[in-house]
Amino acid sequence: MDKLQISGGVALRGEIAISGAKNAALPLLCAALLTREPVTFTHVPHLNDIGTMLRLLEQIGVKVAREAGKDAAGDTVTLDASALDNPLAPYELVKTMRAAILVLGPLVARAGEAKVSLPGGCAIGARPVDQHIKGLTAMGAEISVEHGYVHAQATRLKGARIFTDMVTVTGTENLMMAACLGTGETIIENAAREPEVVDLATCLNAMGARVSGAGSDVIRIQGVEALHGATHRVMPDRIETGTYLCAAAATGGDVRLTGTSSAYLDAVIDKLMDTGCEITSERDAIRLKAPARLNAVSIRTAPYPAFPTDMQAQFMAINAVADGTAVIRETIFENRFMHAVELIRLGADIKIDGNTAFVKGVAELQGATVMATDLRASASLVIAGLVAQGETVIERIYHLDRGYEALDQKLSALGARVARLK
Ligand code: EPZ
Repeated sequence: MDKLQISGGVALRGEIAISGAKNAALPLLCAALLTREPVTFTHVPHLNDIGTMLRLLEQIGVKVAREAGKDAAGDTVTLDASALDNPLAPYELVKTMRAAILVLGPLVARAGEAKVSLPGGCAIGARPVDQHIKGLTAMGAEISVEHGYVHAQATRLKGARIFTDMVTVTGTENLMMAACLGTGETIIENAAREPEVVDLATCLNAMGARVSGAGSDVIRIQGVEALHGATHRVMPDRIETGTYLCAAAATGGDVRLTGTSSAYLDAVIDKLMDTGCEITSERDAIRLKAPARLNAVSIRTAPYPAFPTDMQAQFMAINAVADGTAVIRETIFENRFMHAVELIRLGADIKIDGNTAFVKGVAELQGATVMATDLRASASLVIAGLVAQGETVIERIYHLDRGYEALDQKLSALGARVARLK
């Protein structure tokens, strides 16, 4: 079980490249199921979750070719789904990566059948998939949920008007992919507006789909007979970008991140500027210069373009050492404050009341041994460890490896004293 050892107190300085977005790459890889022709993706981040998804696709019958990229350019992955022979996503895989649910829509649309394990809950919440099922049922799929599996069948999905009860990112993505091969028009209302949804729609249209409205809360899809191959570059990871900006902010640093931009991070950039950081945006880079001490900033998470829930834990870490008291409201997931108790072990002053956290900035944090519980909570502990006096050891960092490519190398390149312990 790998651990990360950090000797805090160093201001991060320098330049690193941002990887392709995990939450764009995962649905994009599933889109390849929709066509018999090869689809190539570039700038695919080298992450454990990507490896898990590729293993799942291979089990379904997809031929996978993966070529490591130079430097931080990510991998080039070509998928050939011409012969699907096993439309099954088993529990053993799905329980380690909930995004496996994203094969459900494409498999029903392309193969007429899918058997996908219910993802079950995770550290941050119950994470049901009822909206995915509701939408596919509206499109005419026969769906049964038995023995922990969703079993869906359809000779051919038909266009439908779907109103999701809440904004769901992978729900929108699953239904958008399924509708591409249906008959007639599908309208998804209350659709997720996240940039990753737009990136997926761009790729689907390059494959011959007819998707419009992605990025708004109403997406229209005209079904077509078949899709063809394409080549698509995965968009930069806006959450990785935000995470390193927070690390630089907390440590009083000055960093430049390349291969990314502030384009999809307005809510986060605004809040970082409120803390007193100076942000310079370039066409495909972003620079942050931090003050000696940050002002506390309150946040409330909500669907895009509002403040992203995936940046909530990182902002709790920077508020732990800021001037003043911050109020953090988490409105998306019911249990996404697991990092708070670990931050308190490092000396943070945090009170939790339901889905609200009150964070009172302290003069300094002290290094300690802490435990990662989920991906973004782990990132929050890394940020706190970078700014704490003394040594912090973070256990169970497999959570980090799921979503942050070469994290220790990138932090070391910015001057952090960090080591991965076996
Ligand atoms: C995606 O998860 C992301 N994962 C998450 O990132 C992100 O936190 C989340 O969107 C919100 O932005 C990927 O894209 C792979 P939702 P997803 O469906 O799609 C409820 C990370 O750290 N809901 O938008 O699973 C759900 O319980 C991960 O990279 C239902 O009730 O999230 C939640 O409260 C964590 N029924 C809310 O909606 C459904 O059928 C939003 O969930 C679907 C969702």
